[in-house]
Order: sequence, then structure tokens, then C-alpha cells
Amino acid sequence: MSTPAGNDPLNLADLAEFRAKAELAIKSTKSLEDLKAVRINHAGDKSPIALANRAIAKLPAADKAKAGALIGEVREFINQLLNEQLQRLTVARNMEIIESERVDISLAVDQTRPGAIHPLTTVMNRISDIFIAMGYEVADGPEAEAEWFNFDALNIPANHPARSMQDTFYVNDKNSGVVLRTQTSPVQIRTLLNRELPIYIISPGKVFRSDELDQTHTPVFHQVEGLVVDKGIGMPHLKGTINHFAKTMFGEDVKTRLRPSYFPFTEPSAEIDIFFNGKWIEWGGCGVVNPKVLQGVGIDTDVYSGFAFGMGIERTLMFRNGVTDMRDMVEGDIRFSQMFGVIS
Ligand code: DAH
Repeated sequence: MSTPAGNDPLNLADLAEFRAKAELAIKSTKSLEDLKAVRINHAGDKSPIALANRAIAKLPAADKAKAGALIGEVREFINQLLNEQLQRLTVARNMEIIESERVDISLAVDQTRPGAIHPLTTVMNRISDIFIAMGYEVADGPEAEAEWFNFDALNIPANHPARSMQDTFYVNDKNSGVVLRTQTSPVQIRTLLNRELPIYIISPGKVFRSDELDQTHTPVFHQVEGLVVDKGIGMPHLKGTINHFAKTMFGEDVKTRLRPSYFPFTEPSAEIDIFFNGKWIEWGGCGVVNPKVLQGVGIDTDVYSGFAFGMGIERTLMFRNGVTDMRDMVEGDIRFSQMFGVIS
């Protein structure tokens, strides 16, 4: 049996035992927490070696130096082991953390892109907002339209070049009497037949013409039609409305002009130009509704008159947002739509 710890600091067998026990305990620690406990037991204030150290004071003066040297050596040995083990366990702990936080970059991630509203839709919604704010209603008509609505009722005679097979898609064959509407203007007639006067409507939508798809043409495109029929309506109302529309669409500084032109369903008629990039560019058509059109649907033209206009939505987007190629608008690549975010 060895002497109780600390009672005889010069007992070499005890010192060797403290040392051996400490070494075994330190080397078998598996974690920093283990090591903390071992450090307290084998190097702390109440550890055998600390008690032995304290007992030096009670030794005869002649033995103090020797005991100090012996104990000091064991303490140093234990402290060094503790430090080495601390380092080892710290590295192991760090590796464990790194490993547990590892991200497997080869894992498949969810690549679903969020959708985006097509800018043509956004422009049409914006146009609707502008006119709704002025008290207009939004009207609708079918894309497969009776030839009569698309042409005859709009005073476009049977021999008009716009009716030729080159421009118009006929449904089934030329005698079907049904076309893919070539313009939104037939909505004027449907509105005149279906709604009470006075009429203040716009109608954005798809139209079709047998063009090849290229930078500036597409066989499916969009227009917005406008129609007002009320008492005492004339050219000044048309001009004011177009100006307001252009300013809210392109900015306060935009310049517009009406250039005399011809459309069978308006008289007088004009092209609407806007000044863009240093030159005048055609934006749409307009005019005072031809009395023949109103009379055709039974409206008393001594009391009522109106104006109408029609613009291309693709052209509007081109001017407004600098899109230079129509094909970008029809190809359906979501990245194109995403570029616009929400147009305000
Ligand atoms: N529908 C015509 C076109 O497609 C545009 C147009 C011109 C519409 C004059 C109108 C208008 O309402 O009054 O070219």
C-alpha cells in the first residue's frame, strides 16, 4: 500500500504511481469534456501531485530542493501530456464540426424557376388601367370571328385588298365566312350591338395575319381597340384622349401627331405617330367613326357620333422598353419575361 497522497512528497513509488495514473487517464480521454475532468483530477488543486507539492513545506529544509525537483518534473510531464492531448482533441473536434456541416454540392437542387408575366400582358393590363381610370370599360370579342364583323360591318368592301388570302387566315376555307380576326376593330361592332349608349370601351387582344415571323413581323400579334360613341363627340376628344394615353404610356415628354390617312370605318382618319429616337414612328390608327358604321347598327347619327383608335401592343412594347426583335416576344423563353419584372 502506498502512503496516502501527499503525505510524503519524497516517496518515489507514490510519485511514479501519480504519474502513471495521470498518463493513462489523459491518454484515454476521448473528448475535450473528458479532458477537462481529467485535468481537474490529475493537475487540479486537489490532485495528488498538488497535495504532494504543498507537503514540501513540511519537509526538513535539507529535503526540500530534492522533493521540489522530483515533483516539478512529474508536474511538467503531466502538464505537457495535458497540452498535447488538448491539441489532439481540439483538432478532432474541429474535424467533426467540419464534417457535420459538410454540404454535398453534387446533390440535385430544385431548379424550378418562378414564372413571370409576359410583358405584352403587362402592357395590356397597364393600358386597361389607364382607360378604366377615365371611366372606360374593357370589352371582349372572339378570335375566330365572322367575316361580317371583321370586314363588312366596318365598311371594308368585298374587293378590299385586306381581305385577300395573303393577309387573312380563313377558318376552313375562304367560303366559311369565318376568319381569325385581322384586327380588334370587330369588337367595335359587337359593342355597338350589345351595349347601351353612350359607349366608352377599350378592347385589347390577339389578332392574326398571314405574315412570316421575322424581326418586325409576327403572324399572331396584339392590338388595343378604343371606341367612344356619345353625343357631340369629335376630333378634339380623340386628340386629347390619344395625347393622354401616349403620355401615360411613354412619359410626359412624348410628342404625338395625327397624320391624315384612310380607314374605311373612320372619316376623317389619321395615323398616330410618336416621336421616338429622333424620328416619327407609326403607333396606330384612329379617326372619327364613319357615320355609315353607326347607321349600319341602327344608331341615329344626328344625335350620336364617336371616335375610334387602334394600336399595336408589340410596337408599344418595342418603343416603351427598347425591345428590338419581335421574335423575343413570341418564343416564350421565360428569361425574356423575367427581365421585365413588373412593368409599372
Ligand atoms: N384596325 C386598324 C388596323 O388594324 C387600326 C385602326 C385604325 C383602328 C383606325 C381603329 C381606327 O379603331 O379608327 O390597322
